[in-house]
Amino acid sequence: MTVAVDREPLARPLLLPCGTTLRNRIAKAAMSEALADAGFGPSDALVRLYERWGRGGAGMLLSGNVIVDRDGRTDPANVVLEDDRHLAGLRRWGEAAQANGAALWLQLSHAGRQTARTITRTPVAPSAIAVRGRGGVFGTPRAMTSAEVDAMIDRFADAGALAAAAGLAGVQIHAAHGYLVSQFLSPLVNHRDDAWGGDATRRMAMLLAIVERTRSRVGPGFPIAVKLNSADFQRGGFEPGDAIAVAQALERAGVDLIEVSGGNYESPAMVGRGELPAPARESTRAREAYFLVYAKQLREHVRVPLMLTGGLRSAAAMVEILEGGEVDLLGLGRPLAVEPDLPARLLDGSADAARETKVNLGIRMLDDALQVLWYQQQIHRMGRGLEPDPSLGRVCALARGLGEQLRTRRASLGSERRTAALR
Ligand SMILES: Cc1cc2nc3c(=O)[nH]c(=O)nc-3n(C[C@H](O)[C@H](O)[C@H](O)COP(=O)(O)O)c2cc1C
Repeated sequence: MTVAVDREPLARPLLLPCGTTLRNRIAKAAMSEALADAGFGPSDALVRLYERWGRGGAGMLLSGNVIVDRDGRTDPANVVLEDDRHLAGLRRWGEAAQANGAALWLQLSHAGRQTARTITRTPVAPSAIAVRGRGGVFGTPRAMTSAEVDAMIDRFADAGALAAAAGLAGVQIHAAHGYLVSQFLSPLVNHRDDAWGGDATRRMAMLLAIVERTRSRVGPGFPIAVKLNSADFQRGGFEPGDAIAVAQALERAGVDLIEVSGGNYESPAMVGRGELPAPARESTRAREAYFLVYAKQLREHVRVPLMLTGGLRSAAAMVEILEGGEVDLLGLGRPLAVEPDLPARLLDGSADAARETKVNLGIRMLDDALQVLWYQQQIHRMGRGLEPDPSLGRVCALARGLGEQLRTRRASLGSERRTAALR
């Protein structure tokens, strides 16, 4: 039974500062697809997946992590953009995703010290400070030289230029979740005393330089977004006050959209407690949206469009949030891995909310992995041309997901050896 909620606010187009318009207020949030081919390009499965999501009604489709340097992958099978070798693949990906009017934006990332040891033994980071409490998954990083920081900024800008050249609709710089740019923002991880660290202004210098250099490459009419933590949720870490100062600087630098998130691998707040619905608190919207309170604080200080992701499930809460004026765009992640048509159904009134999905087993280490692997299995089904299967068993998802990771790691190691032999 549907509840009488006026869906019109969800259907309103959103005009961005660069002049681009998104056709509605629902975005597919970034979810690492782990579907690159053996050469780290967009695979047929990735193209098929986005063709499916492109038919689902969202105004914006934000890709999962697309990595600007293969040694900074968040997953062995991320798409990697280091030069123009994947331009044709990117075009195909964009055409499939955008055939029905959605806009495909690439999320540009580098995992920094959160790159698994199986990808690189010595990841790079602002300072040589290792991730704590993850059972040796990550090696101790090496502090980047100033010249390396400068080259990394170019890598982001080059990847942005490739996205524009391939006909994609925009890019998002990933500066959240404890990845490389977020590490530069964090006083806990950035102990430098040079142009890239030492105080809050210098800690944000890398992010601002990425935005400025990308802008100079893509021109004034191409959207650039930033995914920013509201906080790292760690004592002495990046705090809401820091996020406000960074957002103000980003607004001055001309970004088109800031997505509000939070947490990192040491303090994973980005998928909430994993299970939904959360216990009843004040209003529907406060209960659902993990980071709404922080978005509200940002809204008091910046006018730049804000995107909120994390926990959103019901049309009632989404409409209430948009009507509150605190955010402009709503990101849906896990629900769209199970119900790719949910945006269209929320918009036309045939669905009131995402279906409830219970994935957790109650064992912390396994549950963190399950929040990724169970949903990634659904994503991979769509990549194979199948519909998602909400009845998929948790143990089965864990076993399959871990098996796939092992296979892709072997395949990418093989392809790296072949590339090295050709050099
Ligand atoms: C399988 C999976 C992969 C994810 N990959 C990414 C990613 O590549 N980049 C990112 O910024 N967030 C990533 N996230 C976080 C989501 O973008 C989103 O913030 C989170 O799932 C909370 O939103 P939701 O409650 O609508 O799922 C991922 C989440 C899941 C479940």
